[in-house]
Amino acid sequence: MSQYNITVVGTSYVGLVTAVALAECGHIVTCLDVDENKIQRLKSGDPVIYEEGLKDLMVKNKDRLIYTDDVKSAYKGADVTFICVGTPSREDGSANLDYVFKAAEDVINNIDRDVIMVVKSTVPIGTNDKLQKHIDESNCDFDIEVVSNPEFLSQGTAVKNMLNADRIVIGTESDNAKRIMAEIYEPMGRPIVFTNRCSSEMIKYASNDFLALKISYINEIANLCELLGADVKDVAAGMGMDPRIGNKFLNAGIGYGGSCFPKDTKALYSLAADHGYDLKLVKATMEVNELQKMRLLEKSRQYYDSLEGLNVAVLGLTFKPGTDDLRDAPSIVNIPEMLKEGANIKVWDPIGVGNFLKNLDMIDECDTDMITVCDTPIGTLDNADICFIFTEWDEIKRMEPEDFAGMNNMIVLDGRNCFDVKKMRSANIIYSSIGR
Ligand code: UDX
Repeated sequence: MSQYNITVVGTSYVGLVTAVALAECGHIVTCLDVDENKIQRLKSGDPVIYEEGLKDLMVKNKDRLIYTDDVKSAYKGADVTFICVGTPSREDGSANLDYVFKAAEDVINNIDRDVIMVVKSTVPIGTNDKLQKHIDESNCDFDIEVVSNPEFLSQGTAVKNMLNADRIVIGTESDNAKRIMAEIYEPMGRPIVFTNRCSSEMIKYASNDFLALKISYINEIANLCELLGADVKDVAAGMGMDPRIGNKFLNAGIGYGGSCFPKDTKALYSLAADHGYDLKLVKATMEVNELQKMRLLEKSRQYYDSLEGLNVAVLGLTFKPGTDDLRDAPSIVNIPEMLKEGANIKVWDPIGVGNFLKNLDMIDECDTDMITVCDTPIGTLDNADICFIFTEWDEIKRMEPEDFAGMNNMIVLDGRNCFDVKKMRSANIIYSSIGR
């Protein structure tokens, strides 16, 4: 096995998981981040983010992992650099590439040998070619070959997704870069797709946008099921048995959130528009998702004209279970609306509360004193006039109909289809979910 010296820049979720997985493959990995506090925590063995299996692998590979905030020393001796910095959405939906270009500049200015510069950050199609051109025009003393290598990590299963990747996509036309990349990933023994840089970048966006489209599609079918008396769970199960469709990502719900689907749909749409192409299906995917996020609040109108003065229980805040991430989570758009109407809100989430509280300042003109954080789902329901479920945590799915008995009015609006409809209704709960 060939061992490489690798510097990974950016130690958030993608960077850290990548670094730890590369160390697990036997490489010597330097993790660079500008955040000194984060580096101190990483040095002390604290992964900073919660991701299953990450801490164990950090400990196991500690002799091959170096953490630093010193740009000058981080690239000394590096054969390969991985850029894993953020590409947040700009106002117009396009991806902001400032961090990527800044990281590349640091590589140019600090390397002491020829390197392969791997870009893992999700960047618009054509960015890696532009980066190569920029590097070729700079006065760097060494050769830098830019390689696109997108990530396909899901939060909560990122370590598993990385080490057991369905495919590793490598965008380069250089034989030298192909050989080195194949050697880096060789210990994982996973299938590799070699292509050019633009196709590699497109594989990432097309994959994420297709998954988002699949979710919006099943959500629309679910809404129609409600009107026609069909059950979307059975419909999805029946559809999914056709291998051409596949049974994954057909769970109807209150819309997708997270750090990728919302950002990547916006970015591809905006990129297409810049090239004079109207990407209609992606646009529809986003529109359906925005409407779907408000679906439960809309349903609540059947029972109350307004939530003013009502006790509202919210179970689940994060965009999905197994993460403390609230980015683009349905809760983030629903709770401000509830507050504006004057509801008294109690919330429960097993790990998302800390981030939720940090996010409260995003909620302008709302009286956040009206929010109480509870320790248990049952405590949240005490005296509630209505309950909204935004995340399908196991603790919620394990609840029994009698757990809702403490509500003033047993109205449960479930955005993640956590319960059996008949069982809930036979306990006299007014239960409404998505597409059933
Ligand atoms: C996603 C992709 O899965 C991953 O490959 C990519 O690299 C990053 O984006 P992630 O954002 O972590 O990963 O979450 P994922 O599990 O895909 O779920 C995204 C959102 O879609 C969640 O809000 C989830 O609740 C929702 N979802 C997912 C559905 O509503 N229905 C489904 O069937 C699946």
